[in-house]
Amino acid sequence: MDKIKEIRAYELIDSRGNPTVACFISTEKGAKGFSIVPSGASTGVYEAHELRDKDNTRFFGKGVTKAVENINEIIAPNLLKENIFSQRKVDDFLINLDGSENKKCLGANAVLAVSLAFAKAAASSQKIPLYKYLGGENAKKLPVPMMNILNGGAHASNNVDIQEFMIVPFGIKTFAEQMRAGCEIYAVLGKILKEKGLISGVGDEGGYAPSLSGDEEALELIIEAVFKAGYNTDAVGIALDVASSEWAQNGAYLLPKRNLLKTSDELIEDYENLCEKYPIISIEDGLGEDDTEGWKKLTERLGKKINLVGDDLFVTNTKRLKMGIKENIANSILVKLNQIGTLSETLDVMEMAKKYGYKNIVSHRSGESEDTFIADLAVAVNAPFIKSGAPCRSDRVAKYNRLLLIEKEI
Ligand code: PGA
Ligand code: ZN
Repeated sequence: MDKIKEIRAYELIDSRGNPTVACFISTEKGAKGFSIVPSGASTGVYEAHELRDKDNTRFFGKGVTKAVENINEIIAPNLLKENIFSQRKVDDFLINLDGSENKKCLGANAVLAVSLAFAKAAASSQKIPLYKYLGGENAKKLPVPMMNILNGGAHASNNVDIQEFMIVPFGIKTFAEQMRAGCEIYAVLGKILKEKGLISGVGDEGGYAPSLSGDEEALELIIEAVFKAGYNTDAVGIALDVASSEWAQNGAYLLPKRNLLKTSDELIEDYENLCEKYPIISIEDGLGEDDTEGWKKLTERLGKKINLVGDDLFVTNTKRLKMGIKENIANSILVKLNQIGTLSETLDVMEMAKKYGYKNIVSHRSGESEDTFIADLAVAVNAPFIKSGAPCRSDRVAKYNRLLLIEKEI
């Protein structure tokens, strides 16, 4: 038993320069937990509510002083003296205290900051690493990194419509060697882009953001980089996050950067063609969150060959995943803590996914910080994959570095 002594929230800054909520919790025995919550750009409509001030005189309305105040004035007084090992009870309390379906009253950013700092303080009180506190003795397997080395969509100001092109070194043995492959391929891709006069800055997740003739050019360039770096496509696959909910418009899809209008069926055909031609092992949000009929077709056509990942589709929510299981759509789920707002609900959705044969892919957001919670979470639940961007930008690399250290420890 160890009791909460102090809970304090702060408005800090995320990797896009936007305000975000941080929370510090200490206990009577001197344990400490600190968390900083992330923030998405291509958010799903069914996500929990991120509370922003909407005061246009500060940070263009993106301040989070209300969420911070909700922690300091409403949540903290209720949780003082609470046993730090009662994660489930506290998460349930926070859900009820908020009282809304999507945490719009206190803000999912406020609730999550407390939930995560609480877990970290508990691990610190037991003097064990977070992955062990969350996963026990079974927390032994490292996830394979899905490294987003070329950015488009809402994450980059270029003309590429697909949001993320990731390399996945699934055929390489250790996490350290997988990272080495990712870093080497990323460096070679940079060189190739430079030689071709295509070099650019990086996008929100650290991938290059060149303007290209189309999605296929991105795939060709990445494969060239894989081979030039001394690897092959038996060991390194490609994953796409289409983030097509961003394109959904009146029952069709408008690819905004190239101004192309496509139907659900046409997109499915495009994906089948891409999978024939390239070593694609995973497609995320290939169709929109409300296109259930399209998802059924997509799953029938590609569900046995590759990972079909629901991000905006499932929003880390057991109700949405249950719908997916019932309709037999997708076969993998992207897991983002701030889509649902508490650690316990996130653990619930991952357990449900595992039970029904869906793969858990633990993920960062495009707006991130130095907080490495998701690295420990991925190990705790033996998630097969983690998405944390390119091996570039400290907000991305912090998670990979944490995993490198965990691999040494295990
Ligand atoms: P987001 O992007 O954090 O902007 O939603 C990440 C993703 O779509 O996977
Ligand atoms: Zn996504």
